[in-house]
Amino acid sequence: MASSTLSPTAPSQLCSAKSGLFCGGNAKARFLRGTRTEMGNKERSGMRIRSQATSIPADRVPDMGKRELMNLLLLGALSLPTGFMLVPYATFFAPPGSGGGGGGTAAKDALGNDVIAEEWVKSHGPGDRTLTQGLKGDPTYLVVEKDRTLATYGINAVCTHLGCVVPWNAAENKFMCPCHGSQYNNQGKVVRGPAPLSLALAHADIDDGKVVFVPWVETDFRTGEAPWWA
Ligand code: FES
Repeated sequence: MASSTLSPTAPSQLCSAKSGLFCGGNAKARFLRGTRTEMGNKERSGMRIRSQATSIPADRVPDMGKRELMNLLLLGALSLPTGFMLVPYATFFAPPGSGGGGGGTAAKDALGNDVIAEEWVKSHGPGDRTLTQGLKGDPTYLVVEKDRTLATYGINAVCTHLGCVVPWNAAENKFMCPCHGSQYNNQGKVVRGPAPLSLALAHADIDDGKVVFVPWVETDFRTGEAPWWA
């Protein structure tokens, strides 16, 4: 009768790498060593890949001075056209200059010349009302008083109804609007509608011999009320 004798298995047989079992300090150390080796290989290979991907020859990397110069050139190339575009844009929103000394606007005659007060009263008789170019380019009457001096106010000729330019009617001693029949007295105060308001006023000052219109912001002397146009 055959007898089989089981020999006791040596621990080294059970702790083989194939069996996947491990036991004892030596096996554990071998397992850890193997794992570390594998991870180390992977890391080294990854570093190699990474270093291959990012490595640029040193002579092809621009130095800091060149890069700053390139940045400055790029900034200049972008800012110059932008600046040229912004200047007209900004001036569009800036208020126009007054066109006259002391914040006023020089009155212009029909030919576009400055009105010289002394010459004006020589060529325009007492009671005369003649159009000139006034504030913001509005047609504005210069008034010659009976004593042949210039009145200290000008009368804006824009009708307060719908904006027609109102002619002076010397025979009627009134401003009479041809559009819808509004009438204003010889100082521009409304005396007949449909115009709801009197004609606007401007100061007519004399500066260095020239007539200068200045905005009228004080009480309207014709009505005793605050100026509606200010
Ligand atoms: S615009 Fe002058 S009366 Fe209408």
